[in-house]
Amino acid sequence: MIKHMFPSSLAMLGMVSTLALAAETPASLMTQYAQKAGVPVSALSAQRGAALYRTEHAGRDGQPVSCASCHTASPQQAGRTRVGKRIEPLAPLANPQRFTDAAKVEKWFRRNCMDVLQRECSAQEKGDFIAWLSQLK
Ligand code: HEC
Repeated sequence: MIKHMFPSSLAMLGMVSTLALAAETPASLMTQYAQKAGVPVSALSAQRGAALYRTEHAGRDGQPVSCASCHTASPQQAGRTRVGKRIEPLAPLANPQRFTDAAKVEKWFRRNCMDVLQRECSAQEKGDFIAWLSQLK
């Protein structure tokens, strides 16, 4: 019995320590996205990230839409959803909770990229986006 329990409790311990390490930072997410994209972190571009944020696309209703539509022209400031709900600032310096939860980040990238670009963002685009936001003062 003990022989059988031992490996699984080791596995449990492993899970606990993985959970404890699960909190991300903008820098660790940039590293992960760069890895996924197969490029060095230094190849992420804040300039491309800014363009991704600002470029307008024809939305489903034909109206131009961009990330700035909800997150405003300045991501250091609070934004608004289409129904007027407050969105806390996206820039990590203005809102330290940003880019610390990988699941949340993935969920909103998926949803908002589909909304604005009508496709998912690539790993490179996500990395560029965080690179830009995290250098905003
Ligand atoms: C229709 C409104 C809307 C648009 C357009 C929009 N967002 Fe968002 N975004 C939200 C809302 C709502 C949240 C979640 C609420 C919150 O976290 O404050 C959010 C959260 C996020 C997050 C989560 C970050 C974190 O760590 O908490 C990311 C990343 C994000 N948006 C990226 C984008 C990108 C990239 C675009 C453009 C391609 C975009 N958003 C366009 C409404 C929008």
